[in-house]
Amino acid sequence: MTAQLPQILPFDEGAVALAARLLRAGDIVAVPTETVYGLAADATDPAAVARIYAAKGRPSFNPLIVHVPDPAAAERIAMFDEAARALAARWWPGPLTLVLPLRPDAGIAALVTAGLDTIALRVPAHRAMQAVLAASGRPLAAPSANASNGISPTRAAHVAASLGARVPLIVDDGPTSAGLESTIVGGGKILRPGPITAEQLGLSAAVPSGTVTAPGQLATHYAPAKPLRLNVTAREDDEWLIGFGGVGGDESLSPSGDPIEAAARLFDALHRADASPATRIAVAPIPPAGIGAAINDRLRRAAHR
Ligand code: TXA
Ligand code: MG
Repeated sequence: MTAQLPQILPFDEGAVALAARLLRAGDIVAVPTETVYGLAADATDPAAVARIYAAKGRPSFNPLIVHVPDPAAAERIAMFDEAARALAARWWPGPLTLVLPLRPDAGIAALVTAGLDTIALRVPAHRAMQAVLAASGRPLAAPSANASNGISPTRAAHVAASLGARVPLIVDDGPTSAGLESTIVGGGKILRPGPITAEQLGLSAAVPSGTVTAPGQLATHYAPAKPLRLNVTAREDDEWLIGFGGVGGDESLSPSGDPIEAAARLFDALHRADASPATRIAVAPIPPAGIGAAINDRLRRAAHR
């Protein structure tokens, strides 16, 4: 019998061994991180990295984040200054990505960086991605495991719905905890807001969404299929309202108004709104402080069309 693709296996030794075997053979595998599910490939294998772009339908000028098991592995790929080393020491493993000068002899496929002389690196804090990194022994390029311009996946089912048979294996370790893609820092600036906030990093807030500061920071990166209206306190007839705090709705990101809970639920809620019978989506106002900056960044991108 031919196995149906994608195979979705719960996180265990067998799933990790199969993932590592596929990755070492140049294939792609969806693996959860603490932020979103990533679509991983061996970052040193150009053909494997090309499979990521093909599966996502992603423009080739959009560079990818490379995942490594620890800061020492990161230092073999990129050149760290003292500031970068301090950030890595404080926040890795965790949802922080550092953009740093690439070591030309690191063996990273050019397609990973889209030809740039810098590379985006992170050490993830998730048992499944860490286990797959250890078992494969390779640095793993991994963008979010969704078709380009789709909503980032926070569950294995989201990956299967978006990529289907284009990915052979999904390692399922339940919903992700942070729910938003990692904070990206480069040149002392926040290039993409995320779970680690400007306040926590002691850096000024991110550049306004839609400003192109890096290849791939496209304004329409995170879009549900339906039109989206923001800062809504009263639903119109054909809308699915995603509430927050005092604003109820068809569902709520956090009835108690907790922004961390809201971040973890955001993409899941957008997926449900897309699947609902309503023709349009509305979202309650989310205060901009702390991780609210990253939530509003994703919402503005999702609403941009
Ligand atoms: O949480 C995350 O970061 C997830 C998980 C899977 O780790 N990954 C993720 O990757 O969000 P992706 O490929 O969807 O986002 C990569 C972002 C893009 O906005 C890209 O432009 C930026 O990183 N990026 C990558 N390399 C860069 C570079 N050398 N300079 C500036 N930006 C870069
Ligand atoms: Mg993405």
